[in-house]
Amino acid sequence: MKQTWWKEAVVYQVYWRSFLDTNGDGYGDLEGVRQKLPYIKELGADVVWLNPFYVSPDRDNGYDIADYYKVMDKAGTMEDFERLLDEAHALGLKVILDLVVNHTSDEHPWFLEAKASQDSSKRDYYIWHDPVNGGAPNNWRSYFAPSCWEYEAVSEQYYYHSFAVEQPDLNWENTTLRQEIYQMMRFWLDKGIDGFRMDVINLLAKRKNLSDVDNPYDLSYLANNPGIHEYLQEMHEEVLRHYDCMTVGEIPFVTPEEGLLYVDESRRELDTLFHFQIADEMPTWDMHRFKQIQRDWYEGLKGRGWNSQFLNNHDHTRQVTRYGNDREHRVASAKLLATLTHTLPGMPYIYQGEEIGMTGVTFDSIDDYQDIAMINRYNEEVAKGRDPRAVLESLQLLSRDNSRTPMQWTDESQAGFTTGEPWMSVNPNYVDVNVEADIQREDSVFRYYQQLIQLRKSHKALIYGEFTDLLPEDEALHGYERTLGEIRFTIILNHSDETREFPFELDPKTLVLQNIENNDTRLLPHEARIYMTKAAQ
Ligand code: GLC
Ligand code: CA
Repeated sequence: MKQTWWKEAVVYQVYWRSFLDTNGDGYGDLEGVRQKLPYIKELGADVVWLNPFYVSPDRDNGYDIADYYKVMDKAGTMEDFERLLDEAHALGLKVILDLVVNHTSDEHPWFLEAKASQDSSKRDYYIWHDPVNGGAPNNWRSYFAPSCWEYEAVSEQYYYHSFAVEQPDLNWENTTLRQEIYQMMRFWLDKGIDGFRMDVINLLAKRKNLSDVDNPYDLSYLANNPGIHEYLQEMHEEVLRHYDCMTVGEIPFVTPEEGLLYVDESRRELDTLFHFQIADEMPTWDMHRFKQIQRDWYEGLKGRGWNSQFLNNHDHTRQVTRYGNDREHRVASAKLLATLTHTLPGMPYIYQGEEIGMTGVTFDSIDDYQDIAMINRYNEEVAKGRDPRAVLESLQLLSRDNSRTPMQWTDESQAGFTTGEPWMSVNPNYVDVNVEADIQREDSVFRYYQQLIQLRKSHKALIYGEFTDLLPEDEALHGYERTLGEIRFTIILNHSDETREFPFELDPKTLVLQNIENNDTRLLPHEARIYMTKAAQ
């Protein structure tokens, strides 16, 4: 495949409101991100992805946008952003922004105008429907509400929302709306940003057949509807192809065959994607399924499209808690999971804090949570008469707040995140788990990430190499190869709490990276090793 800068890049995701607060208001800010750019650079990342910082009532932490052209006060000012961007570029870092164009906030001027009357010139920017038998048009749910339809009393119609009631979906069938979006994308690209992470981008086209569905909880009807590829091809033609930028689409509900349609280079839509087969199908670790997913995506995209590797982000519980061991093996386990994302085919994404092995949280009361997805679901279930404690417990493991607690910089007050009251409680384990402490450890997670990233940068086999699963059936061990030309990497990981026999004959002299000091032929719990050989050896 054609070699490009972004295929070789490592992305560091900054959830800025939880990264570093520089004015004591309890929210991280763009100035905080700017101050920590050297930290991100030192880690070895190439691209910084910033979650949305546009003007927003913040019902869904910035994913409900009221002005696409302005910076929200909590984040700072446009000048702050420009300074951040300049300094990132000066350090050789690229910056990509979140593009949230499936929906706006219900406080966006377009929506305020649209809802005022059926004759409004902006009415068609959103999706409206008359009541059916005095109620919602069908039984479809939304991500954050029991119905994707909300009645709007003044103009007497329902509007469609894939997420919260406060996030009305835009009507991509409207040509003028599409041009408004393209213009906004050019505005940011002309400022010099290097691309977009595109929020739920495969939801833009809506299903035309409005019949009830059998299982409203399986939300796949919200995504991948006819027309989506035409919109993305148009966006590429109108905007993307004119810039040297990268795009990564958030694409839920796709198999590799469907995913390829979004990233096949010959189709000119997106560069790469996040698929959700791991996040959606594996609430906890499932070795067999994980290996299958990796093989299927490798085969499915091979030579035609590019994948991404991530095991957590701002919507998903921290990986060492969800998929590893965040107790006695936290450090080794954090490194093992990193080994996977940095050596499997596709671009690695690091979510802030992952590089020091930050863990998820369990708060005692629903009042300590802020995630709108969790709170709405909690209220819905409790209203049905279910035991509140049981409902809370059922939602804790996957609450999005698990990954949104403030970044742990030091063991000082509020983990060095803020001098004020943080918008969300700091994980109490900050006393032990923080950047300052991690970097001082001999077995630092941060330093292991640095080594992994450097290894990947010095060997294209880890980027463009062929992938072969060597142990498809093993329930505890991973073993796979990445080969390119005469270079072969063999990666062996013990994803379990027990010691395991080493499965192959490998020359110990070819070991290039290991997450635990161990010369034994047996693999310790959560041990990861990378071997490299040249064909001549
Ligand atoms: C994406 C975002 C998530 C947000 C949702 C609605 O899934 O990652 O945080 O709530 O889209 O915009
Ligand atoms: Ca602040």
